[in-house]
Amino acid sequence: MAESMKGLHRTHRCTEVSNANIGEKVTVMGWVQKRRNLGSLIFIDLRDRSGILQLVFDEPKVGSEGFAKAGTLRSEFVIAVTGTVQKRAAAVNESLKTGDIEVIAEDIRVLSESETPPFPIEENSQTKEELRLRYRYLDLRRPDIQKNIMMKSKVSMLLRKFMEKEGFLEIETPMLTKSTPEGARDYLVPSRVHPGSFYALPQSPQLFKQLLMCSGYDRYFQIARCFRDEDLRADRQPEFTQADMELSFVDVDDVIEVNERLLQYVFKEAIGIDVQLPIQRMTWQEAMDRFGSDKPDTRFGMELVNVSDVVKGCGFGVFTGALENGGSVRGINAKGQGSMPRKKIDKLVEFAKGYGAKGLAYLAVNEDGTYKSSFAKFMTEEELKALVEKMEGQPGDLLLFAADKNKVVWDVLGALRLEIGRELGLMDKNKYNFLWVTEFPLLEWSDEENRFMAMHHPFTMPMEEDWDKIDSDPGAVRAKAYDIVLNGTEMGGGSVRIHQDDIQEKMFEVLGFTKERAHEQFGFLLDAFKYGVPPHAGLAYGLDRMVMLMLQCDSIRDVIAFPKVKDASCLMTEAPNVVDEKQLEELCIKVDVPEEVE
Ligand code: AMO
Ligand code: AMP
Repeated sequence: MAESMKGLHRTHRCTEVSNANIGEKVTVMGWVQKRRNLGSLIFIDLRDRSGILQLVFDEPKVGSEGFAKAGTLRSEFVIAVTGTVQKRAAAVNESLKTGDIEVIAEDIRVLSESETPPFPIEENSQTKEELRLRYRYLDLRRPDIQKNIMMKSKVSMLLRKFMEKEGFLEIETPMLTKSTPEGARDYLVPSRVHPGSFYALPQSPQLFKQLLMCSGYDRYFQIARCFRDEDLRADRQPEFTQADMELSFVDVDDVIEVNERLLQYVFKEAIGIDVQLPIQRMTWQEAMDRFGSDKPDTRFGMELVNVSDVVKGCGFGVFTGALENGGSVRGINAKGQGSMPRKKIDKLVEFAKGYGAKGLAYLAVNEDGTYKSSFAKFMTEEELKALVEKMEGQPGDLLLFAADKNKVVWDVLGALRLEIGRELGLMDKNKYNFLWVTEFPLLEWSDEENRFMAMHHPFTMPMEEDWDKIDSDPGAVRAKAYDIVLNGTEMGGGSVRIHQDDIQEKMFEVLGFTKERAHEQFGFLLDAFKYGVPPHAGLAYGLDRMVMLMLQCDSIRDVIAFPKVKDASCLMTEAPNVVDEKQLEELCIKVDVPEEVE
C-alpha cells in the first residue's frame, strides 16, 4: 500500500549524506536498489539520482512494524526513511561515495511499490537497447544514463551562462513555420484552418535568426529543437537540439573568436578539458587532400598522398585510366601492416567498394625489399620504386591505392583511413582534437537534381576573391563557411550570410530558382533585406553531438532522454501512429498508402 509523505521532508539526496553528518538525523527518499537480510539486520541500498546510500534496519531501532515493512521491500519500491547517520559497522565499501557510512533507520514509509522491472536497473546494462528504449523511463533511472542526461543539462546551463556574459539574447523562434533550406526533408504539419496547407517543422532557426539581425537584436542565441526527415545514423536523430547563434556586424574571424572562448569555457567547466587556443584551422581543400574528409580526425596520421604525378604514364591501366578521366590516384600507408593476410586485405577491398571504389590496389613492402602487390606486374621496377618512395613506404608497410574521380578517391581513402585507424587503436581516447574547417565550396553538384546545390545553405556568403568565377566555374567558388570538428565528428557549422540583394539573387539563379519561386519561398527574408540589413554571420552546434563527444558515447541516443530509433519511431510511445478517421476528416486528409509501402 502506498503511503503518503505527509509531514516528511527530504533532508538530503543519498550521496549528499557524508561522514560530516555522523550522529545527525536525516530523511532520505528514493528507490530500493537491493535488499539483503542478515539475520536480525536488513540492509537496503537506496538509490536516487545522486547515487547509493546504505540503510540498516534493526528491529529495536525501527520497531517491529518498520522492521516487517523493510522485510517486504523489493527492487524499485519507493521509500522514505528517517534515521541516524553512523560510521559503517562492517567493512568500508570503497566503490561507493557513501561507502564509509550508513543510516540506521528509525522510521520507514513505503511511498509506492513496484512490479519486477523487465530488466535490472544497473550501470553498464547488458540489456538490449530495444527493450531499454521500450521502457525508457526505467532505463533513464540507470546511473550511466542519468550521468549523461545530467551532463546535457549542465552543458546547456554553461552555454546560457557564457552567452549571457557575451551579450547574447535568448529569443525563441517558431516551431510551426515554413520550409527552411537546410537540405533535408521537412516534417509537415497539416493546418485545420487552412485545409490542404501545411506548416513545416524547422530544420533550424536559420531564417528567423537572420530576421532577428535585421530587427537589430545584434546577438541572438537559442537552444533550439530542429527537425529533419533524413536517414538516421549513430550521430543523427530526426529531432535534435542546436545551440544556435547569430551575430551582426561580424566576419568569419569574429565568429570563430567568440566560439573558441565558448568551447574553452564549456569543455573546461563540463569535463575539465583544456582547449588550447587558437584552435587549428584547415581549409576544406587541405582537409580533403590530407584526410579525404571534410571532418578529419586529426588524432592520428596515415594521411592521403596524391601519387597522380608519379603514376602518370605507368603501365597500370587502372591508374592511367582514372587520370585520363580527370580523376586522381591517391594512397595511404598503413605503417607496419605489410604482413596483413590476404583475407584481411580482401575485406578492405570490399569495404572500399562499399564507399564507391571499383577496386583497391595494394602493395606490401616485404622485409627483403621485394613487393607483394595486386598491380606490381603492370609497372616497371623504377615506377614501383618511385611510387613507394612517394608513399614513404618502408619494409613492413602496406600501401593502399584508389584511382577514380577525386570525390570517390577521397571518400574511399578517408573511410579506409578511419577503419584501419580504429582497428589499430590509433584514436587516443584522451585526446580532444578540435579543428576549424574553413573555405568550403559554395556549391556542390548534384547528379540526382542535375544542378548545383548550396553546400551549406543558399544564404551563405561567397568569398569575395572567387565571386568573379560564379558564371564561368561555379564549382570553384569558395564560401565563408566553417565547421567545427572534434575528433572526426562535425560538432557545429555556420557561415557569414549574404546581405546584398544582387549577390543573393545571383545565388538563387545559380541554384536554379526562378525569381518567382525564390520569392514564394523566402520572400519575407528578401523583403526584410530591403529595409536595412546589417552584415551578419552565425553558427550552430549540435548540442546532442557535443555532449556525446564529451562523454565519448557511441550513440547520440545515449544523451537524449527520449530518442527515436533507426526507422524514426519511438519504441516507448509507439509514435508515429495512425490517427482517428475523424481527425483526418477535420484536416481534409485522405490517406492512401500503396500496398508495397504497407
Ligand atoms: P547544420 O545543418 O550544419 O547548420 O547543423 C548544425 C549542427 O547541427 C547538428 N546536426 C544534427 N545533430 C543531430 N541529428 C541531426 N540529424 C543533425 N543535423 C545536424 C550537427 C551540425 O553541425 N542553420 C545552420 C547553422 C548556421 O549556418 O548558423 C545549420 O543548421 O552537429
Ligand atoms: P584488375 O586489373 O581489375 O584485376 O585490378 C587489379 C588491381 O587493381 C586489383 O587489386 C583491383 O582491386 C585494383 N583496382 C581496380 N580498380 C581500381 C581502382 N579504381 N582504384 C584502385 N584500385 C583498383
